[in-house]
Amino acid sequence: QSRIFSGMQPTSDSLQLGNYLGALTQWVALQEEHDAIYCVVDLHALTVSPDPSVLRDRTRRTAAQYLAAGVDPARSILFVQSQVPEHAELAWLLSCHTAFGEANRMTQFKDKSGKHGTEGTTVGLFTYPVLMAADILLYDTNLVPVGEDQRQHLELTRDLAQRLNARFGPDTVVVPEPHIVKATAKIYDLQDPTAKMSKSAESPNGLIELLDDPKVVAKRIRSAVTDAEREIRFDPEHKPGVSNLLTIYSALTGREIPALEADYAGKGYGDLKVDLAAVVVDFLTPFQARVHGYLSDPSTLDDVLSDGADRASKLAAGTLERLYDRSGLLPRR
Ligand code: TYM
Repeated sequence: QSRIFSGMQPTSDSLQLGNYLGALTQWVALQEEHDAIYCVVDLHALTVSPDPSVLRDRTRRTAAQYLAAGVDPARSILFVQSQVPEHAELAWLLSCHTAFGEANRMTQFKDKSGKHGTEGTTVGLFTYPVLMAADILLYDTNLVPVGEDQRQHLELTRDLAQRLNARFGPDTVVVPEPHIVKATAKIYDLQDPTAKMSKSAESPNGLIELLDDPKVVAKRIRSAVTDAEREIRFDPEHKPGVSNLLTIYSALTGREIPALEADYAGKGYGDLKVDLAAVVVDFLTPFQARVHGYLSDPSTLDDVLSDGADRASKLAAGTLERLYDRSGLLPRR
C-alpha cells in the first residue's frame, strides 16, 4: 500500500474551491485504497504572521473542512503540523542539504516576497519549501496529491530525497511522486480566468470560498467573466472563462465535459451560469452544515486532532531517528 501525504495552510477562515477541487477531493478518493496522512500545516501559516487567536481558529476551521469533505479519521491520519515537532526538526536537517540558490529559485517565494523585494522578507518564507519537504519525507511518502502550483516544491522535495539517498545510502528516504489530476490541477479566478483562484486574489469577486454565503457565491458565478462569443465549448486557450466554468461543473457533478457541451449546445452563457450556480450551492449548503457541526464541538475536534498527532508522531519519530543516525548525530541514552 502506498503512503499518501498532503496538507493545506490555515491562512483563511475558509478554503476556496481550488483547494477543494485541486486537492481535497483527491485526498478523499485516495484514502480508500491507500495509507493516507492529512495535515493542517500551521507552521507554514506562521510565514504570514497571523494574529495568534485567528491562527488557532483557522487551524480548527481547516480541520473541520477536511472532515466535512470526507476525510475519515478512522481511515486516515488527520493532524496539526505543530503538534508533531519532528517536522521542524527534519526541516533543519534538510536545510543543511539545500543550496541557497536552489531555494532562491522557488517561484512562489519570489511571488510572495516580490512586492516589497526580498530584503524585508522573513527567512521563514524563504525556507518554507524545505519545511514542506520535511512534511513529506518524514512519512516515507509515495504520493503527494496537490494542485499544479505545488509542482515546483515537489521537485525540490524529490531532489532533496535523491541527495540524501546518494549521501547516506539508497534506502535513506522514499522519493515521492506528485499526484496532480490534470482536469482540476488549476481552477481559475472567475474574474480573471487566466490567474489561479487564490485566497490572496486582489478582488474577492473571482473567488469561491467554501464557507461563503451561498447567495454571494451564486452571484459571483453569474457575474463570471466569459468572452464575446456565444458558444459553450471547452477551449482553455481561447475561452478560459467558459472552460473554467465547465471544469468546475464537471468536477462537482461527475458529468464529462463533452456531455456538458452537448447539453448546452444552442444555449447561452447565462443558462450555464445559472445552472452552475445551482450546482455549487447544492454542494455548499450541506458541506457548510457539516463544517458548522464539527466547529460546534471544538473539544471533540481537538481530540480527533490529538489522536492523529499521536499516530503521526510514532511514524515521524522513526524516520527522524534514522536520519539523525545516518547524519552522525549522537543519540541520547
Ligand atoms: P495551499 O494551502 O496554498 O493549498 C492547498 C492545496 O490546494 C491546491 N490549490 C489549488 N488547486 C487547484 N486550483 C487552484 N486554484 C488551487 N489553489 C490551491 C494547492 O496546490 C494545494 O494542494 N505548500 C502547500 C501546503 C503544504 C503541503 C505540504 C502540501 C505544506 N506542506 C506537504 C503537500 C505536502 C500550500 O501552500 O498549499
